[in-house]
Amino acid sequence: MNYELEQYVLHHSEPEGDYLYRLYRATNIHTIHGRMASGHLQGRLLKMFVMMQRPQYILEVGTFSGYSAICMAEGLKEVAAHSTNNGKQARGGEACPAAKGVPRLFTFEINDEMEDFTRPWIENSPVADFIDFRIGDAMTEAPKLGVKFDMAFVDGDKRNYVEMYEMVLPLMNPGGIILADNTLWDGHVVDPAYRHDQQTQGIRQFNDHIREDERVEKVILPMRDGLTIIRVKPRTE
Ligand SMILES: C[S@@+](CC[C@H](N)C(=O)[O-])C[C@H]1O[C@@H](n2cnc3c(N)ncnc32)[C@H](O)[C@@H]1O
Repeated sequence: MNYELEQYVLHHSEPEGDYLYRLYRATNIHTIHGRMASGHLQGRLLKMFVMMQRPQYILEVGTFSGYSAICMAEGLKEVAAHSTNNGKQARGGEACPAAKGVPRLFTFEINDEMEDFTRPWIENSPVADFIDFRIGDAMTEAPKLGVKFDMAFVDGDKRNYVEMYEMVLPLMNPGGIILADNTLWDGHVVDPAYRHDQQTQGIRQFNDHIREDERVEKVILPMRDGLTIIRVKPRTE
């Protein structure tokens, strides 16, 4: 998308708000790979997904600076504010151990050097109560939570996307939504020049794996760097 069209799209979508605008700027000033943050359009889409899915629990693999986490937590806050039954069972019918509490996003960041930057942005945000930010490897730590999720945002190491997906899938409630980011990898997935690049290989393997996986329905949204929407089929489908 060219710059003019991108500005048009942003201008006709929900604004990101001052706090996220400042976080995105700070992310790009103070971190090396600032572009990894979701940004305005994808952030609004993540919030929209949360408001449509109304999850009790969300899992995020890869917090980075906290941009996407705050967007999803904004959705949780909105849902909680308009929910008449906060003590309901988790969507999908499976009772969660803490289902009577506020909805929550569990977000993992493996790089402990990000903590000094990210934690204050999360804790000073208006949605801090909805976020449980943990430094650690989601691959080993997420299954230990003992929680079933209604939504997951997979945005970790592209080389391990298949393994990451296979870790997340058993943690999902039926009908849950997994969003996987960067699944077109700047178009490299169809560029033979990148066939030896490990991250491109990881994404290609992931896309092939998902295509063949009959446990889920899937659609790749060709926005930004590619976002795959994966719905976990209830067992009867
Ligand atoms: C693309 S960035 C995340 C961006 C963020 N989700 C957003 O949209 O604003 C990917 C992050 O995932 C982290 N990461 C990679 N593998 C991980 C894992 N197994 N567990 C937790 N974090 C991981 C990386 O350190 C990096 O900070």
